[in-house]
Amino acid sequence: MAGGPGRVVVTRRIPDAAVDVLREVADVWWPEPDRQLTVGELHAALDGADGAVVTLRDPVDEAFADAAGERLRVVATVAVGYDNIDVPALTGRGVTVAHTPGVLTEATADLTFGLLLSVTRRLGEGERLLRSRTPWEFHLGFMLGTGLQGKTLGIVGLGQIGRAVARRARAFGMEIVYTGRRRAPADVEAELDARPLSLDGLLATSDVVSLHCPLTAETRHLIDADALAAMKPTAFLLNTTRGPVVDEGALARALADGTIAGAGLDVFEREPEVHPGLLERDNVALAPHLGSATVETRTAMATLAARNVAAVLRGTTPPTPVRK
Ligand code: DGY
Repeated sequence: MAGGPGRVVVTRRIPDAAVDVLREVADVWWPEPDRQLTVGELHAALDGADGAVVTLRDPVDEAFADAAGERLRVVATVAVGYDNIDVPALTGRGVTVAHTPGVLTEATADLTFGLLLSVTRRLGEGERLLRSRTPWEFHLGFMLGTGLQGKTLGIVGLGQIGRAVARRARAFGMEIVYTGRRRAPADVEAELDARPLSLDGLLATSDVVSLHCPLTAETRHLIDADALAAMKPTAFLLNTTRGPVVDEGALARALADGTIAGAGLDVFEREPEVHPGLLERDNVALAPHLGSATVETRTAMATLAARNVAAVLRGTTPPTPVRK
């Protein structure tokens, strides 16, 4: 690196294995104690940085690049989604943007299925009943849920995570339909026995709708009041991608008035806030953005982000740049 050893800003604590990768090419700075930096703190920390490892909570925009200055060469997010990053603003200055596709696919699909089972089999509701010490007894009509065998799963966005969810669903005896920007390759359709549909067709057909599209201007509020009204009243909605893909107020109303049967949500429109109308409902399974939250997956994500930074600072090709 020209003009010194280089400095990489890491906005949240990452596993030692990932820090070691960064230390091979640069001095590494992170906040002590670990905390979410304010925008002002972030910008101050970036001054003169060659690279940055960020999370989905850090706004990466023109002001971020200005704060870093002209040494900045790479920003790597520890996430597959990069809706918090103004990619053209960075790449327009010659800064590489990288993300972490692939390594969180299975963990996120597992969590999606966990939410599906939780809401359809009323696991959270049952646990709340027990923990509240409410008297109960087994009988044949007690807390009946909904089975998945023979039901149709509609995947919105049949990318890596959508496919991994579909594979799990096949093992549960579900049929797969999907919609997306483009048709999936023939071998993917064949493996999953997946049928392409329009969004309207998918909403009308599916017993479970699972969202796996990225958050973009086109997908913001993709699931609004009209989309919810187009779903079956017996259907469930799963969101493990980004909160703003769903109009949360409309979803709370749809769950309250029986427009749909239930929802499983890992992400929220205004994280960490959750719409109060969702918190009070038993037909919603909730998780605090845990899709990739396993030790193994987060270590793999952080290490991949670090490898992206190290590659750019060495002048080689990063493994997983954002391609736009
Ligand atoms: C991602 O990678 O985009 C997830 O939301 C965070 O794990």
